[in-house]
Amino acid sequence: MAEEQSTPRASFQQLNHPEEWDSKLRPQSLEEFVGQHRVVDNLRIALQAARIRSETVDHVLLSGLPGLGKTTLCHLIAMEMGAHLTVTSGPALGRPADLAGILTGLERGDILFVDEVHRLPAPVEEYLYAAMEDFVIDVPVDQGMGARSVRLPLPPFTMVAATTREGMLSAPFRGRFGICEKLIPYPRDDLARILDRTAGLLKVKLDEAARSMVADRARGTPRIANRLLRRLRDVAQVRGSKEVDAAVAEEGMERLGIDAWGLEETDRQLLGLLYRGRPRPLGLKTLAAGIGESEDAIEEVYEPHLLRLELIRKTPRGRELTLRGEQLLAGKAVASAAEQGTLWSASP
Ligand SMILES: Nc1ncnc2c1ncn2[C@@H]1O[C@H](COP(=O)(O)OP(=O)(O)O)[C@@H](O)[C@H]1O
Ligand SMILES: [Mg+2]
Repeated sequence: MAEEQSTPRASFQQLNHPEEWDSKLRPQSLEEFVGQHRVVDNLRIALQAARIRSETVDHVLLSGLPGLGKTTLCHLIAMEMGAHLTVTSGPALGRPADLAGILTGLERGDILFVDEVHRLPAPVEEYLYAAMEDFVIDVPVDQGMGARSVRLPLPPFTMVAATTREGMLSAPFRGRFGICEKLIPYPRDDLARILDRTAGLLKVKLDEAARSMVADRARGTPRIANRLLRRLRDVAQVRGSKEVDAAVAEEGMERLGIDAWGLEETDRQLLGLLYRGRPRPLGLKTLAAGIGESEDAIEEVYEPHLLRLELIRKTPRGRELTLRGEQLLAGKAVASAAEQGTLWSASP
């Protein structure tokens, strides 16, 4: 292990950052989309009903942690409806004028995908209200003293919004979505199926032991599972092996610093801070400074997994280790995620 310490390790944030591989591995139909049955069934019904009525689908809000399939579902909705898709994101829409430009370019039945919708500035969000509800926008025509605006009709369209932080949306905004669906982490069986599919696309053999190891350590997240598989494929290739088997998976996981709990270096640092600070809980700011990550990354990437493993808990005064977390840090034997077997079947 000693020589490994000097090689930089991919953190989960890197492992879970959207990139071009996402689109290459994206399912091409709702049938290919694995798991999340409740969400998929609800969407299917809404799409079918809209088609029967020859109407546009209600606005859709998709929430859930990064890498669970929000962007994929949006593409599939567009595909099922045979609709043209326009893609933008909260941070890209700085001013109402940016939004107006996009909205006026839409055609009847188009789908407008707004990713990271919780990052829309408040004035842009408010500007969206009339567009979403009544399909109109107010465009300013004069400036200064004589400022006025004209109301322009928009063609009916469907807004599909994705967010990793549903709690940050205002109630009036959320209320304008007819369909709100939340994606949850995938059970290991679903991840195993996703891995089989990905292995096929990557033309790599994946044996059963390796597949369950990846499924167990992927934090219930397809993007991480796919990314881990690609890293293991590299290891296999360098070893001159055509197959990702248990030995390749062991070596790869060790190189990535991912343990049986699916924890990586940054998680261990986080837990270490809480352990040393005990019994005092630590705030988000302290943790962020302590591990050199943003508060957002802690809340969206690291913490959800630690909470689900019941290694930490949130209290009004900050984060603290659970008894189980303390036992793990104290080097006591605690059943790992894989050994427990029940991890991802539990609701988050
Ligand atoms: N249910 C699923 N079945 C198969 N692959 C999936 C599924 N959900 C996500 N993926 C894969 O995981 C990757 C990340 O999904 P994406 O839709 O980009 O996540 P999000 O937008 O929620 O961050 C994509 O490459 C996609 O192929
Ligand atoms: Mg996305």
